[in-house]
Amino acid sequence: MNNYTKSKNENTQPKMAPELRKYIKLLNGKEVLDLGVGKGYNSVLLSNFGFNVTGVDISNESLKYIEENFDCANLTLINKDVREFEIEKNKYDLILSSNVLHFMPKEDFLKIIKKIKENLKEDGLIYISVFSKEDPSSKLNKDFKENTCISYFSKEEILDIFSDFTTILISDEYSLDLGHGKPHYHGMIKYIGKK
Ligand SMILES: C[S@@+](CC[C@H](N)C(=O)[O-])C[C@H]1O[C@@H](n2cnc3c(N)ncnc32)[C@H](O)[C@@H]1O
Repeated sequence: MNNYTKSKNENTQPKMAPELRKYIKLLNGKEVLDLGVGKGYNSVLLSNFGFNVTGVDISNESLKYIEENFDCANLTLINKDVREFEIEKNKYDLILSSNVLHFMPKEDFLKIIKKIKENLKEDGLIYISVFSKEDPSSKLNKDFKENTCISYFSKEEILDIFSDFTTILISDEYSLDLGHGKPHYHGMIKYIGKK
């Protein structure tokens, strides 16, 4: 496995969450669902590693970006709100959602997690990363919060939500993000668990 894929553009090599890359060897099968696929940073590489990936995103521009920049034979893209996406039962070995599920009220977050837990294959893995309560945006003014609807999580809360799963990784990071725009900080909780 290498870090590079058939990119149609020299400047658009996809990246992949290192902790996800480390633990994909635990998967027993090849079916992956990426909720909020974005520009495909995880899904493009997973599909190039031979996984059959379904990527869902509410933004048609993001899906177009993937189609225009990458050759991915086994990546299926679906333009839909993840809250309305029906997850096929016992199909997926890995369901991931990276930097997405905090962009909604907690009530919606909990409904999606319930749906993932019910439909993930037995022994399947879940990977999520969400904003922690330490994320600097949590301290912004009331107008920002009302207009953006971001939910913030603690490590304990995530562990409690997944108390019926086996924890493989839980991390609570505060770090400088150099990935987009001006360098800025984020507080993130990352979780990998096994059903
Ligand atoms: C910060 S990006 C993360 C993309 C990708 N998962 C990654 O880690 O690089 C957030 C993505 O979530 C998508 N998104 C946000 N809310 C969504 C929703 N309710 N349903 C589907 N996609 C959503 C956005 O369109 C965007 O592509």
